[in-house]
This record gives sequence, C-alpha cells and structure tokens, in this order.
Amino acid sequence: MKPKHLLAVHEIAAGDVTALLDRADRLKAERRTTTAKRPLTGKTLGLLFEKASTRTRVSFDAAMNQLGGDSLFLSMQDLQLKRGETVGDTARVLSLYLDALVIRTFGHDLLKEWAAVAAIPIINGLTDLHHPCQALGDLMTIRERLGTLKGVTLAYIGDGNNVAHSLIEAAAKTGIGIRLACPKGFEPDPLIVEASRIVAKRTGGAIEVLREPAAAAEDADVLYTDVWISMGQEKQAKTKLKKFKPYQINEKLLSVAKPSAVVMHCLPAHRGLEISSEVMDGKQSVIWDQAENRLHIQKAILEWLLG
Ligand code: CP
Ligand code: NVA
Repeated sequence: MKPKHLLAVHEIAAGDVTALLDRADRLKAERRTTTAKRPLTGKTLGLLFEKASTRTRVSFDAAMNQLGGDSLFLSMQDLQLKRGETVGDTARVLSLYLDALVIRTFGHDLLKEWAAVAAIPIINGLTDLHHPCQALGDLMTIRERLGTLKGVTLAYIGDGNNVAHSLIEAAAKTGIGIRLACPKGFEPDPLIVEASRIVAKRTGGAIEVLREPAAAAEDADVLYTDVWISMGQEKQAKTKLKKFKPYQINEKLLSVAKPSAVVMHCLPAHRGLEISSEVMDGKQSVIWDQAENRLHIQKAILEWLLG
C-alpha cells in the first residue's frame, strides 16, 4: 500500500484540512495537561534538511517527542547522497529505519521523487514551491483569532513565493479571499493561481493578484508578509531589495486595513525590510501565536499520517 504524504495543500481533502485544524485546537488546549496522550510511542521521525530552519526543525522535533516518539536530525551534507547515492536507494533504506520523514529542500520535483519511492510518509518541510505546514498552521491562527475562515480577506504583501503559494491553496480550500500585492516579475506561479481559482469557486474563496500594497490591504482582516529574499535566492538580493521597498508592512499600510486586522509573518523576519519593528511588536501582531501553532498543527499532521 502507498503511504500518505503531505507535499502540498492542494493535495489534502477539504475535510481533512478541517479535521487537522480541529485536532490541532484540541492538542493546544491539552498541551499542559497531565492527560496528554503519547500515541506515537516507538515511532521515529527523520528530519532531513538541506536549508536552514529554526521553527520547522525544532517544532517537529518537539512535537514528535511530546507525542511519545523520537526524532532524528539528518543533514543532507552528511548522507551518502552527497557522494552520489541515488534518492531512490536512500529513500528505500531510510524507509526501513524510520516511520516518516520531513524534508526541506530546493526543487519540489526532488521532493516528489522521494515520495514516489519512500515506503513511509514524506512531509514537505519547505521547497522552493510550497510550504504546506506553514499554511496549515496559519489557518489555525486565523481561525483562532477571527473565529472563522470563510469570508476572511487576507492581504499578502510581497514576494509570490513558496509561502504565498501554500497560502493561496489554503485560502482556496477554505473560502478565504486572498489578495496578493507583488512587484512586477515576482507574482505567484500562474499555474497555482489558476488551479486554486477552480477550487475557490466551490468554496466561496477568491484569488486576486494586484500590484499596489494599499489596494490589497484595504479593509483586509489579515495582513501577511514573508522575507523578500528566500533561501537560495541570495544572488538576487540587490535587485530584489530595490523593487520590494514599497512593499513593507508598516503603520501606514496597517491603517488602511480593518481596525480589527491582525498581522502575520511566517518568520524569520527582517525587521525594517518587509515589516517594521513597530508593527511586528504591536498590538495587532499575532506572529508569535503563529509560530507557536506550528507545533500544534504538526502534532495533528503527525497523528494523521502515523497514528
Ligand atoms: N517559518 C519557518 O518555516 O521557519 P523556519 O525556516 O525557521 O523553519
Ligand atoms: N520564503 C522563505 C520562507 C522561510 C520560512 C524561504 O523560502 O526562505
């Protein structure tokens, strides 16, 4: 039997998204109780990272431990992969030792290659194209703060990157209206936008790709941003920094959103670039809840794939 994987939000059934969010809420409520269960006792999660990480690595590690299992950090650098062993052979061998594997890498196709061969669930810990665990955690935070997802207007300001792609798919699944403001040449992948628009038709969601930050932010319930230079794009830093300057979330931009709007950032942040320190530490910021919720949603994901 083929294992269940989590590679992108569009691959998860809408009912499963809701079930994951409900479970994550319960796990959060139970977090500090003595009755917290340890359903993954005896299971081992591999964490295979080819890029840096603070939240994804540590929250998956903690999640696995708190659910009674173990986790093992693997650097891509130290495996025989770096000396030419194939992904296929490595995936086959790791499947004999581990019960699931989180992978953070560059190309999304490479992740798919792992998933095609592995006999255990593969979880996308971020690729250049998608960051599904982030978007699922973000849905949890939005629902927790606004009480609903359907009908919420989310303005994403900045780069049409992996985080934006997963948010677009998450919005389409759950009936959120997402408006993106991106500089020319940095819009989200049109294939993802088009496919998500079809999904959004069924859920009442909507996807708009705009240029002006204020047009996207107007009367929005959520303002969201991410770094301008993603991991692996360091060479583009100079050009990008110039183009993205007008795309900062600051007090001025926040003033055009609803007075009740919340501000989100997946982190790590570059204070003074994509977001001002004032807003990041301000009353409307839910950024720290957002970071915390990665732990809870990932516990729900681990139970779903491994339980
Ligand atoms: N948001 C996020 O995935 O953070 P890390 O890069 O620290 O894992
Ligand atoms: N877009 C960012 C997200 C980091 C969590 C990157 O890929 O570096």
